[in-house]
Amino acid sequence: MAAVQKIVGVKGMNDLLPEQSGLWEWVESQVAEVFRQYGYRAIRTPILEPTALFVRGIGEVTDIVEKEMYTFTDALNGEQLTLRPENTAAVVRSVIEHNLLYDGPKRLWYVGPMFRHERPQRGRYRQFHQFGIEALGMPGPDVDAEQLLMIDRLWKSLGLTGDHAPRLEINSLGALDERQAHRRALIEHFQSHASVLDADAQRRLHSNPLRILDSKNPAMRAVIDSAPLLQDFLGDASRAHLAGVRDTLDRHGVGYSVNPRLVRGLDYYNLTVFEWITDRLGAQGTVCGGGRYDSLIEQMGGSPAPACGFAIGVERLVALLEEVAPPALAAGLDVYLVHWGSGSMAAAVAFSEQCRDAGLRVQMHCGEASLKSQMKKADQSGACCAVLMGEDERAQNVVTVKPLRAEGGLVQQDRVPISDAPAVIRGLLKLV
Ligand code: HAM
Repeated sequence: MAAVQKIVGVKGMNDLLPEQSGLWEWVESQVAEVFRQYGYRAIRTPILEPTALFVRGIGEVTDIVEKEMYTFTDALNGEQLTLRPENTAAVVRSVIEHNLLYDGPKRLWYVGPMFRHERPQRGRYRQFHQFGIEALGMPGPDVDAEQLLMIDRLWKSLGLTGDHAPRLEINSLGALDERQAHRRALIEHFQSHASVLDADAQRRLHSNPLRILDSKNPAMRAVIDSAPLLQDFLGDASRAHLAGVRDTLDRHGVGYSVNPRLVRGLDYYNLTVFEWITDRLGAQGTVCGGGRYDSLIEQMGGSPAPACGFAIGVERLVALLEEVAPPALAAGLDVYLVHWGSGSMAAAVAFSEQCRDAGLRVQMHCGEASLKSQMKKADQSGACCAVLMGEDERAQNVVTVKPLRAEGGLVQQDRVPISDAPAVIRGLLKLV
């Protein structure tokens, strides 16, 4: 028979394998707990949305919409659909569709996969995951600052303290008329240096000159560095908003720097924008990004309402933890059940169920194997103890409890009556 060709996964889309999933689950539970502490409630929206949602929401002249969206026509009904590249536009769609703001502001959070057709590299994937927050209906700056305090608390709860924690950069993108005045000045500036602009910059000059500031082209460094700064165009209200955010950060000892070049890659932002960046992950060091988007809801067809949010890249956060502060996670299993001799299976199944009734996590050995090989499996399983049921034990209605690792709190091997065993094991493992 001809060799069957293996099918491999899509480039840039990763499997989360069991040796990593424990860390992901732990991070998810920490994040969910901190979000709940601030009154955020979960929302889940579909992974597929109409393409127009992202084009209108994120902005036509952005990297995401121009070249990174997985878009296709649904062959069954001709609809144009896109795998969500981010979730702010989708949450706003849902909030408008279900009229969620009818009784006042909402604090929402989500976690899930996002899709961007980028060039894969460490920390940059085509399917990646985000934890996200959207606070809708609150004009701030108190809510902007509260979100930054929440993120700071999250780093601490994950053990990312001191120079292990990402650093915060903030900026203000001001109000629409301020951005328009700045935009006119930018176009004038870049036009007067037209000869050094690359093709991308030429194309963006009139559609989205702000994005030119994001260019990594070294030949344009000087002309970018000398470009007019938005902060010089900010009016009193915008300055006061930024000052309000800074005041709260200062009072709570959250360090930050103001980066007047921080613009973000999505068009919906105004006033406060921020990024949390680590130097530990190479080029893809932005772990979290967000800001205020006060016109998006109206722009998507809802009644005008201010909003503010952010998203954390889960892959980058997990990579940072693995790099600087891997937590000591408790073993997933309490007991590995080793059994042998004729008719041992039925007794082993019954005993495992009895242990699970008592709240223990039990993996029962399945299939024929020698005691030695079962003990090896027990050791590899990560369980705190092995419980042995041989013919001898069964004849005497006992089990042998054998500690496998010191952290379990068990010290020496012991024989325990079967009926008491679950409670005794819980006691030995300090689960009671
Ligand atoms: P974003 O800056 O595009 O913002 O993405 C947020 C975070 O997602 C990034 O800081 C990064 O950690 C992670 N991320 C983005 N692209 C990739 C990728 N290709 N591979 C791995 N990680 C990635 C947003 O998505 C906005 N929706 C955030 C927001 C919510 N603003 C307001 N509300």
